[in-house]
Amino acid sequence: MTRGFFITFEGGDGSGKSTQIALLRDWLMRAGYDVVLTREPGGTRISEKIRELILDPGNKEMADMTEALLYAAARAQLVSQMIKPALEEGKVVICDRFVDSSIAYQAYGRGLGDAVGVINTYAVDGCMPDLTILLRLDPEKGSSRIADREHDRIEQASDAFHRKVYEGYLELEKNYPERIFGVDASGTIEEIADEIQRRVRGIISH
Ligand code: TYD
Repeated sequence: MTRGFFITFEGGDGSGKSTQIALLRDWLMRAGYDVVLTREPGGTRISEKIRELILDPGNKEMADMTEALLYAAARAQLVSQMIKPALEEGKVVICDRFVDSSIAYQAYGRGLGDAVGVINTYAVDGCMPDLTILLRLDPEKGSSRIADREHDRIEQASDAFHRKVYEGYLELEKNYPERIFGVDASGTIEEIADEIQRRVRGIISH
């Protein structure tokens, strides 16, 4: 049996990922694909527990390296319990955030640098996305979009942090142009969805 297809979505907080993920899932399902949707940090019982630990605004004393290791731990569990088995069954897996989030938020945002890539090489165990959709939105616009919801520990970080995260994403897009497809997230929902579908159509049927 051929391996399935692995798509991840990336972008800053408030970039509209959830809306676009739901639209892509529905579109792929209508086209007859067996789609599994998951999210990071989370997606398995153990990873959801790690998620609570990471995002709890009460955990103010968490060291940056602890944070990076916890994200990687949640990811290792998700890869082995969910993503790999689903891909082996030939499914399309869509994941809301993956390893690029750790590079953008922990390596660039927190300033942990190369250590984050190293840890994550072990966490993903060779399971990298076939396609990553990056919803590019200026961090100030992103934070104004989420202004009226309750903020988790990461969302509470400073504007300077979110600016570094954004720059990290742009750097990743430049470094991995075959894998990462950047979309301007300031367009309308329909425009963005069309652009994503065009790109997915171009590679999934090969
Ligand atoms: P979530 O509520 O899923 O945010 P969003 O809806 O914006 O995706 O919370 C995940 C938060 O964790 C988000 O602020 C990004 C951050 N994050 C990291 O810092 N590193 C990571 O590796 C991942 C997966 C997420």
